[in-house]
Amino acid sequence: MPLMRIDIITVLPALLESPFAHSIIKRAVDKNLVEINIINLRDYANNKHKKVDDYPYGGGAGMVMMIEPIDRCITALKAERAYDEVIYLSPDGEMLDQPMANRMSSAKNLIFLCGHYKGVDERVRKHLITREISIGNYVLSGGELAAAVLTDTLVRLIPGALSDETSALSDSFQDKLIAPPAYTRPAEYNGMKIPDILLSGNTPEVEKWRHEQSLERTKERRPDLLK
Ligand code: ADE
Repeated sequence: MPLMRIDIITVLPALLESPFAHSIIKRAVDKNLVEINIINLRDYANNKHKKVDDYPYGGGAGMVMMIEPIDRCITALKAERAYDEVIYLSPDGEMLDQPMANRMSSAKNLIFLCGHYKGVDERVRKHLITREISIGNYVLSGGELAAAVLTDTLVRLIPGALSDETSALSDSFQDKLIAPPAYTRPAEYNGMKIPDILLSGNTPEVEKWRHEQSLERTKERRPDLLK
């Protein structure tokens, strides 16, 4: 049994194929640490044309995603297992950050609903979902990219997903600090040298330097994290 299962409901399943087919997420799926299911909402449309959206009551531009296919889909999923959260990705939602991801990473089963057009029928938001999450103060064309971001940030926190278990803890934001600068070979490139300390072989001093660099960068770039 995987530690986490994520069901992503979308009208554009193709948009979500590549983000999970590489690197850390692919490895976590292959190791059976996480199961990610992409569900085509149109499969739950109860009409000949597989229609999942309709004109807004009261008029106006843009289509609205209908409650019926979404309800049928979520009901079918819930009949199979209990879900910790049914999340609607939306710019109006709670802002995703590292503490939120850390808390959510212990969830067992999650549903992500990706919106499109002018959004979903308000009754979906009111009655079918448990939470709305935004990945930032900007508007995307749909929730898919936001669902991919949320999935990525959760999967890398699942124990065993990263080869070095400590590395998620040393990410930027994990200790409320931005990560220190990193360098690799060559030690000098076109006259640009790496800091001498990194060639010293003195691990405690290197760690001290990294911490100082993190602190300095955070003060400079993200003072809000230090408050
Ligand atoms: N859907 C459209 N824009 C979004 C955003 N910023 N975050 C989450 N879902 C979205």
